[in-house]
Amino acid sequence: MKKHRLTIFIFALMLLQCANIFAQQAGKTDAIYSGLPWYDQNGKVVSAHGANIVQENGKFYLFGEAHSDTSNAFAGFNCYSSKDLYNWKFESVALPVQKNGKLGANRVGERVKVMKNPFSGEFIMLMHVDTLGYKDQFVGYATAKNIAGPYQFKGPLLFKGKPIKKWDMGTFQDDDGTGYLLTHGGMIHQLSKDFKSIIAEINPAITTGFESPTLFRKNNTYYFIGSHLTSWEKNDNYYYTAKSLYGPWTARGLLAPKDKLTWNSQATFVLKISGTKDTTFMFMGDRWSFPKQLSSATYVWQPITFKGDSISIPQYLNAWTINLNTGTANPKSIIRKTILPGDQTISLTGNWKYSTIDSISIIRSDETKASLSFKFNGKQIGLYAVLLPDNGYAKVEIRDKKGKTIMSNIIDLYSKSPMLQLAFLSPVLPKSDYNLTVSVLGERPNWSDKRKSLYGSTGNNITIAKLIIQE
Ligand code: GAL
Repeated sequence: MKKHRLTIFIFALMLLQCANIFAQQAGKTDAIYSGLPWYDQNGKVVSAHGANIVQENGKFYLFGEAHSDTSNAFAGFNCYSSKDLYNWKFESVALPVQKNGKLGANRVGERVKVMKNPFSGEFIMLMHVDTLGYKDQFVGYATAKNIAGPYQFKGPLLFKGKPIKKWDMGTFQDDDGTGYLLTHGGMIHQLSKDFKSIIAEINPAITTGFESPTLFRKNNTYYFIGSHLTSWEKNDNYYYTAKSLYGPWTARGLLAPKDKLTWNSQATFVLKISGTKDTTFMFMGDRWSFPKQLSSATYVWQPITFKGDSISIPQYLNAWTINLNTGTANPKSIIRKTILPGDQTISLTGNWKYSTIDSISIIRSDETKASLSFKFNGKQIGLYAVLLPDNGYAKVEIRDKKGKTIMSNIIDLYSKSPMLQLAFLSPVLPKSDYNLTVSVLGERPNWSDKRKSLYGSTGNNITIAKLIIQE
């Protein structure tokens, strides 16, 4: 009996140690890394899409859609907090799936946005509510006394007693504290003083489409970003400027270079970070990955470049830093030990092909379970991939020296617009011997929209350019 207890005790201790591997290293992420899964303090993937950020008590609070890898049904809205915008702590499911009603199981809840009402101090959450087939769309709201919730879902936000029957939405809070709801097409609706209803439609639709409406202000110019209507597929987002929210709005063209599909993302919010020297406006976009939106959808957060009142994201930064005192953003070069595809220390199983794409050496396979393994001693490992239209999902696993899997995740290597980028970066681990295995999952992101148009990848390939190691 005693021996039995001891075994249980040792086993519990081992479990604790295993759970702690990430917790021990919390706070170690040193930059904003786009296009790869982020891990919270428990080693779980950060799931917060269609998000926004609210600053409160010296912290940033990130609100976004929780997702699953199996269906598009509402899975709640998550809340994370951070002091540096690099390391995210899971706070709560701010609004869980309701027992029944319009945000119950098998409904859709998207594009959650939270604002603090400056007059009441209450937190107001707005969201797109719908059926799974997107046939009962309206803007809903929820309220909470504390930023991380719990939020109480109140139903539709009303204008003259009627719901706003729109799909994509966003919010904007002007410098005087007034709150606005933005809806697809570019409509702007002014919120009542308590943010719980609409008092006026102050700007009519500017155009058709214009999904994921995202608005910010710099000095006396308003910038209004939106995307084309291509479901979860990424496209070239574009923007308008105006001197007043009432317009007139001037079309200003694309936000990122043409055909780069907004660096393979869709706008959701712009965060203003003011410091003693600079103000950085951070574009926040979603890199959707249907159906594996929990494990594989990622975040594209990039500093916006201004030239007069033109904005752009001229290049994709794999990593960049923000100094929260000065407000200055800087690209971060990732200098690590590099292992190229032909390296003798990489072991392969299954069928792989070596080739080059734009003079970048790559190794590629589409055979399910074909794998690439690499042993390393260090603290962190990363993977650069060439994202391609016929790429699919890769499974990434890290084992410790005893062969025990300490992390496993699926990453998406598909992009309609080819790009070389950092596609995986492990959490910072205690320095030790590990084994990284990357294998072909044999699945790919693809789906059809409500008009039955087909979207997504044409193959299950994974295309790897190099590994990087922090010793
Ligand atoms: C996009 C929209 C997303 C989601 C998706 C569903 O256009 O921006 O929020 O609704 O369609 O296909």
